[in-house]
Amino acid sequence: MSPEWWRNAVVYQIYPRSFADADGDGVGDLPGITGRLPALVELGVDALWLSPFYRSPQADAGYDVADYCDVDPLFGSLADFDALIGQAHRLGLKVIVDLVPNHSSDEHPWFQAALAAPAGSPERARYLFRDGVGPGGNEPPNNWPSVFGGPAWTRTTDADGSPGQWYLHLFDTKQPDFDWTNPEVRAEFLRVLRFWLDRGVDGFRVDVANALIKADGLPDVTSDAETNMMSTILTATSGAGDAIVHSGPTSPMWDQDGVHEIYRDWRRLLDEYPGDRMMVAEAWVSPLSRLARYVRPDEMHQAFNFEYLSAPWDAAAILAVIDSSIAVNDSVGAPTTWVLSNHDVVRHASRFGLADLTLRPNGIGATDDQPDAVLGLRRARAATLLMLGLPGSAYLYQGEELGLPEHTALDDDLRQDPTWMRSGQLERGRDGCRIPLPWEADAPGLGFGPTGRTWLPQPESYSALARDRQVGVNGSTLELYRAALATRRERDLGNGALRWVPSAPSVLTFSNGPVTVIANLGDGPVPLPPGELLLASGELVDGALPPDTAAWLVG
Ligand code: GLC
Repeated sequence: MSPEWWRNAVVYQIYPRSFADADGDGVGDLPGITGRLPALVELGVDALWLSPFYRSPQADAGYDVADYCDVDPLFGSLADFDALIGQAHRLGLKVIVDLVPNHSSDEHPWFQAALAAPAGSPERARYLFRDGVGPGGNEPPNNWPSVFGGPAWTRTTDADGSPGQWYLHLFDTKQPDFDWTNPEVRAEFLRVLRFWLDRGVDGFRVDVANALIKADGLPDVTSDAETNMMSTILTATSGAGDAIVHSGPTSPMWDQDGVHEIYRDWRRLLDEYPGDRMMVAEAWVSPLSRLARYVRPDEMHQAFNFEYLSAPWDAAAILAVIDSSIAVNDSVGAPTTWVLSNHDVVRHASRFGLADLTLRPNGIGATDDQPDAVLGLRRARAATLLMLGLPGSAYLYQGEELGLPEHTALDDDLRQDPTWMRSGQLERGRDGCRIPLPWEADAPGLGFGPTGRTWLPQPESYSALARDRQVGVNGSTLELYRAALATRRERDLGNGALRWVPSAPSVLTFSNGPVTVIANLGDGPVPLPPGELLLASGELVDGALPPDTAAWLVG
């Protein structure tokens, strides 16, 4: 019997507002995606993950959902969704949708009802409303900070105009957290899951899966690392993952044991459906052994491997994270996943070009130190070739197949990520990795849509990287991805097993079945291992592998 599809799948993340625009308003939409599906088949991915397209005031680009069972008119309609998934399935692509269960939008009917209802009412009990402390209840109920900056509490105003209770939002003010101890909330999300499963989705990416349950009594955070939570989720330092502390006994809001019961319920529901439906956890949890708890046999199927994403361009660090990832996932029978970029982090073609690789900034602005674009792309191509040679499942973020850099000089006035304002303009935020894709170099808006409008401006560098400039061009990043994905499929690398081959300290070499993967992270050229060269991320020099280059060989 062949393994479940998700065990070895390469999943391509679509950020709908920036993928392709069919109606010309400058914001990508579902028909835009449907129209471009053939490009994804040509690329050779197995599945798509769509970031949220639900009804939403877009306070956090759709991660603030006002109706979980409808499409926002900005992106189209439910009929457009049905057309998209129908076409994707005909083309052999699986479709995963984003589920945002930790919080809704403040414009969700439940939250509006809660605001209109008195303290202590069943309407308020679906969220986390509390009285303030201190004289007049003027202080927030505890000291929790919001991930986006500022306090995690906002005070409401009662009908008579007087200050009322406070509500919890781990993210933006417009993203109130649900109270997951309330059975009504649990029942509602089972309904939402069924709604999309009945519509044929193949799985769910579960947003902040480690946050749904908070410690009893909502106690203050005590550790500096957590009080300074801005540094945890979006600006985590790289390396050993030391700053990623969304877990552990000291954290009252992250990685509480109670979350697992929720995923067991969901797993039972998914198992009722035919066809290997799956869930993948977005959980910035450290260490990996805590993350593995989300993918035990009766819980989720996968979890994003952010420790891999956070590893610096350093052979020892990458080797260590690969080994521990495989070990902890093996211990629970889950496939290991790999990821280098997504809509929350600086694109890896820019990250790897930063002078200080131990930093992972939350966005880069025009006045910040700029990455070395040539070095960054060179390393990014090598890093991708290394990643796609690993057994397990890999996640790609739209545009990385074009080698797109971060927009590092975006006008600050155009920034839309709530992080920018909430951090008092200290953190640039994530707009720079969310720029509309360049499809055609000579078309207005680089072919993003029919009118040339784009909700954020594209940097000049995107023109030369437009897809039509890369198709069929030997050595282009797009052709490198296509060749790697085709070979990965042909050789079944996703189902393979990794065996390290002894190498110099700055070189990583492993075999996966018949294929040998080598990456040179050092300063000088290294000889290739024996075998026929299948692919290289850059040109060889006198038959040797130059620095910041990876290759695949066979035989
Ligand atoms: C996740 C999403 C991020 C969003 C946050 C709040 O981390 O990936 O984009 O802002 O959750 O929903």
